[in-house]
Amino acid sequence: MCGIVGILGTKPVANDLVDALRRLEYRGYDSAGVATLEHGHLERRRAQGKLRNLEQRLAKEPLQGHTGIGHTRWATHGRPTENNAHPHMSKGVSIVHNGIIENFAELRRTLSAKGHRFETDTDSEVIAHLIADAMHDGHDPVEATKMALGQLKGAFALAILFAGHDDLMIAARQGSPLAIGYGTGEMYLGSDAIALAPFTSDITYLEEGDWAVLTRAGATIYDAAGKKVKRARVRSSAGSMLIDKGNHKHYMAKEIFEQPEVISRTLANYIDFVESRVVLPDLGINPAHISQISISACGTAYYAGLVGRYWIERYARIPVEIDIASEFRYREPPLQKGGLSLFISQSGETADTLATLRYCKSQGQRIASIVNVKTSTIARESDVVLPTLAGPEIGVASTKAFTCQLSVMACLAIGLARARGAISPAEEQELVQALAEIPRHISHLLTNEAQYEALAHDLSKAKDVLYLGRGVSYPLALEGALKLKEISYIHAEGYAAGELKHGPIALIDENVPVIVVAPNDHLFEKTVSNMQEVAARGGKIILVSDTAADAAGCELMAHIAMPKGHAFTNPLTYAVPVQLLAYHTATFMGTDVDQPRNLAKSVTVE
Ligand code: M6R
Repeated sequence: MCGIVGILGTKPVANDLVDALRRLEYRGYDSAGVATLEHGHLERRRAQGKLRNLEQRLAKEPLQGHTGIGHTRWATHGRPTENNAHPHMSKGVSIVHNGIIENFAELRRTLSAKGHRFETDTDSEVIAHLIADAMHDGHDPVEATKMALGQLKGAFALAILFAGHDDLMIAARQGSPLAIGYGTGEMYLGSDAIALAPFTSDITYLEEGDWAVLTRAGATIYDAAGKKVKRARVRSSAGSMLIDKGNHKHYMAKEIFEQPEVISRTLANYIDFVESRVVLPDLGINPAHISQISISACGTAYYAGLVGRYWIERYARIPVEIDIASEFRYREPPLQKGGLSLFISQSGETADTLATLRYCKSQGQRIASIVNVKTSTIARESDVVLPTLAGPEIGVASTKAFTCQLSVMACLAIGLARARGAISPAEEQELVQALAEIPRHISHLLTNEAQYEALAHDLSKAKDVLYLGRGVSYPLALEGALKLKEISYIHAEGYAAGELKHGPIALIDENVPVIVVAPNDHLFEKTVSNMQEVAARGGKIILVSDTAADAAGCELMAHIAMPKGHAFTNPLTYAVPVQLLAYHTATFMGTDVDQPRNLAKSVTVE
């Protein structure tokens, strides 16, 4: 889950490598490094921590090479120290790696027995040694790399340089994405096209098992069997990749505030507002024949799926099976032939989600995905893609991608419901109109930040925070807790309100804020009972609801007043206060909101 780049340039490339790495920091930021080739000689600079540390290092000790590779790391094997930072080197071979080499320990033992000395605790270093070992036996760089690739088990995207070969870079992809970029007399390599956006929009995505030999004249691509193959060159839209914080202090804030616009854009992709009808892409399966839908995803995307389950079951009357992808992939549930499997992912690269997709495909399922990055592996391996039009999401904590995923889920539920005759045209119109009001409601909610700033003071003092919700608000409680813990580092748990008395109530005392997500729907009265139980034990309640504060029937620490909306669309609006509570608590505490510790935006390893 690291970011890798490579450039075969016509001038010194170190600064451009760092520029590209900046666009990949969302993949990890524990350490960074670059290596360049200058007159055949390999030199590297590495630094622990954020990219700026590497920049400072390069300012003091510049590199002049015109050929180079770079890496930004999310540590898996070995602590995030400078010594473990990539690029790794062995006898004139330098590599950067994204992924995990599962058989590294065995390879390391064999190579050590042959006299190789290892300098790091990483799994990646064996790759450099394997290639160097084959070259020592007389093989040229291409042949040596091919032999080494055949010995690696696990997931990798690689860029490799060779001392004495200034016009050569080898790339390989297995389980981790990699894009080749074409320039004029220059060639590029990157974990994604965003990294290459300043240099080129002329891109080839390597496919699973591909490896490529790059020179300044172009790229020769081979498949896993070593056969020369042609892969399409596509034009990626650099405009959509341009990313800055605008007037906001953090990307996360900018992304929260973009929600009215990106939700509108996403809804417009699925709704004919003139007719008040949902228009879905052809799913390649007759909705009337769908007997079950299985959903899998991770983290926030999984919570979007949980909301989707309530909607699809309630409106389309289709049973939905949903699981966290990392569980689903090993549970290997039996799936009915011809069923529909749905995958939700912002990045479209999450390893566990991709693995479940491949499992479902092997079981003869029709594969649909809700993804934000249209060029991603999950999108490319799906039979049908339902895109979210959220634009690039840079903050590690997912916000606008979540509400766009909900928007697509809502349209999918309506579209399936109508196609199956489970709702009437009038009901469809009512639901579509409710969705159309969401951007306005969210814009209104975003005008009241002062309330969240005030609450942030209290929340920042808490050691534990509980989030409660019932029905479709339960996933919102889970999402609220995830947002708070990942960016403020305060321990938080989301619970189904009905579960409170089965255990978590033991945690309640006057030091534990309890955030209750409770729109005034058919379940509100039930949640009122839970609030009473919390209040009776001295718990401090923050009620997020469109009811009046006194409807809770107990003392509240705060009441976040929500606009009156349709019960169907409440998850979309109620997502915003839970995002703002987490965001303001984290900024008050001074944490690194956009790049919280230990996390990465895109989890491309198990
Ligand atoms: O790219 P994906 O949507 O597949 O990512 C899934 C999760 O890793 C992601 O939602 C994660 O939980 C976020 N950091 C939550 O804010």
